[in-house]
Amino acid sequence: MNDQMTSLRKRGKMNNGFDPASAAALDDRTRDFVERRARLLGPAYRLFYSNPVEFTRAEGVFLYDAEGRDYLDAYNNVVSVGHCHPKINAAISDQMGRLCTHTRYIQDGILDFAERLLDTFEDDIGHVMFTCTGSEANDLALRMAKYHTGNEGIIVTSEAYHGNSELTSGFSPSMGENTPLGTWVRRVPAPDTYRTDAEDLGAWMVDHVERQINDLQRRGQGVAAFVADSLFTSDGVFDPPPGVLAQIVERVRAAGGLFVADEVQCGFARIGSHMWGYQRHGVVPDIVSMGKPMGNGYPVAGIAVRPEVAAAFGNDMRYFNTFGGNTVAMAAAQATFDVIEEEGLQANCARVGALLEEGLQALAAGDERIGDVRGAGLYYGVEMIRDPESRAPDGARALALVNELRARRVLISATGFHGNVLKIRPQLVFRPEHVARFLEELNGAMKAVA
Ligand SMILES: Cc1ncc(COP(=O)(O)O)c(C=O)c1O
Repeated sequence: MNDQMTSLRKRGKMNNGFDPASAAALDDRTRDFVERRARLLGPAYRLFYSNPVEFTRAEGVFLYDAEGRDYLDAYNNVVSVGHCHPKINAAISDQMGRLCTHTRYIQDGILDFAERLLDTFEDDIGHVMFTCTGSEANDLALRMAKYHTGNEGIIVTSEAYHGNSELTSGFSPSMGENTPLGTWVRRVPAPDTYRTDAEDLGAWMVDHVERQINDLQRRGQGVAAFVADSLFTSDGVFDPPPGVLAQIVERVRAAGGLFVADEVQCGFARIGSHMWGYQRHGVVPDIVSMGKPMGNGYPVAGIAVRPEVAAAFGNDMRYFNTFGGNTVAMAAAQATFDVIEEEGLQANCARVGALLEEGLQALAAGDERIGDVRGAGLYYGVEMIRDPESRAPDGARALALVNELRARRVLISATGFHGNVLKIRPQLVFRPEHVARFLEELNGAMKAVA
């Protein structure tokens, strides 16, 4: 890692974050915005790209800047069924015009949506609870896991991100060295399919998990939960073969802990083969947390949970979230779900994702700077390396590519500890022509970033 990356990491680095020290290089309008933001919002917010971009409107898979130029959105996991989808807009404004209230009155919308959502999970999962953000969902999941197991320890992967609250940032190591981790948190490496042989991966992961379990037990903390995003997206996007996750979960359960599947990134049809990322691994979680794409931009999130895990927590305490599960949130979530089904978006992710993967693999085959292409459905990581022998991560090149693509009006970002993995996460409504434009620009960017 070079000095600049080291210092960014210490300051709360973000892969692909704009460095305010380079503001002098911006055009007048952008610089004014950057300075105004810093003055009004303070120093904690980060912008994307070395040349931050301003958008004024959006539609489908495109965002438009102030001059009306279109940018292909190959990164958006919030407005994931298309920017400004008319059906969802109509459902939100219609509901807002009739009634918007919380969960302490009887309403059918929340029950209709709960029924529909529960149908997508295995029978063992019997309740859903609603929050506004993924952080709140994970916060609730972990409070429940701790209460149910009577244990404190949480095991996560080394670059995991699970949220921004006091509790969840405490088990989100990717926030950087200045964000304190809980003393009850233990880290294991992500299942690195690029640097570990597939047949060894399961045993290698279980060995790491086992050591952390032993340490937690020795200190009297025990294991409350293993929390994982099944595509390990902030670790650099890893797609371990089915079986690896199941082995880990078996070991965690034997130690009295739960498995919390964080589906904030890969849930809601994105992986193509299934509705939920964990479902590819033949393991049923104790708690599933969800968020981001759930309301196509409207803040709605939540957990799905086995009734026996929710029982004591719910009976001994109560849960109220003023905005979580409100009438409009449920209308937004229901309409988003309608669109996923009516437009066949899960199948679209599988079909269009296969085209994307094929194109990325073809590019990788002819370019030694790409070490690995991995992912599922419409979520891919492309790992940039210095050379095939050392496989040393090349974060600088990945960053240059991300910025070159931004100059070509294509939006992606970078992920992983070294920021050397291109993070490609198009909207679920990507079509073959969008893949073609994406690959053409990536090809051009690879040539430009020599
Ligand atoms: C895997 C994962 N979990 C949880 C969260 C937190 O969600 P939110 O930003 O809605 O609080 C995120 C957000 O990026 C995430 O990627």
